[in-house]
Amino acid sequence: MRIDVVSIFPEYLAPLNLSLVGKAVRDGLLDLRVHDLRDWARDRHRTVDDTPFGGGAGMVMRPDVWGEALDAVMTPGAHLVVPSPAGQPFSQQLAADLAGTEQLVIACGRYEGIDARVVEHYAAAGTVSEVSLGDYVVNGGEVAALVVVEAVARLLPGVIGNPQSLVEESHAGDGLLEYPVYTRPTAWAGLEVPEVLLSGHHGNVARWRRDRSIERTAARRPDLLLALDPAQLDRGDLAVLSALGWSVREGGLVPPG
Ligand code: ADE
Repeated sequence: MRIDVVSIFPEYLAPLNLSLVGKAVRDGLLDLRVHDLRDWARDRHRTVDDTPFGGGAGMVMRPDVWGEALDAVMTPGAHLVVPSPAGQPFSQQLAADLAGTEQLVIACGRYEGIDARVVEHYAAAGTVSEVSLGDYVVNGGEVAALVVVEAVARLLPGVIGNPQSLVEESHAGDGLLEYPVYTRPTAWAGLEVPEVLLSGHHGNVARWRRDRSIERTAARRPDLLLALDPAQLDRGDLAVLSALGWSVREGGLVPPG
């Protein structure tokens, strides 16, 4: 797979040379190219922004500069991702969809964002996703590009040594947060590893983990439980949920109270 990132701060993307993503690039599993948007500016100051029509604070990135850059970088069928706090929430599902594409191009905006005609223009010709990291604002799209590249790259075949790790983690498919994990020493800071995990009884371990997943999800992300199909739940699941005050009604889960 090929991923191109366009930014006025290409050095911001340097961490992608490290760790699993860096190794994926060196192993030839990922063709990662980082570009400086200013290479497509036309004046000697290499200007990429201008004042907003209609007034207001800050600067807006010019569509003509972005158009030159994206036309140079995008190949037919490319999926364009534009990070923005006004985008759709980035998700594991979108990461998985993007991992199935031939080329992903990430356009990192700064200042007040990119002239809206850029998304409009490329959406008419192909697939464009404006994506948000969450309900907060960072200074530009580079941090989001790091997140998107890492979330996508680790799903490419061969990048993660043991693909089973992808199946069991949070947001991986069962709609629940991952259970807590433990390693040696068995006692630390007065805290013991739960007995069942030392028992060697696989069935009990699996049940304990599933129960903890459900409890965590209920406490931290009840919205994920509301989205679950109760048909996916077994009797053990329903017992934990009912102990937490949840019930099943008309094909959905109902929170306590
Ligand atoms: N740019 C600024 N804030 C952002 C956010 N929350 N997500 C994606 N891109 C952004």
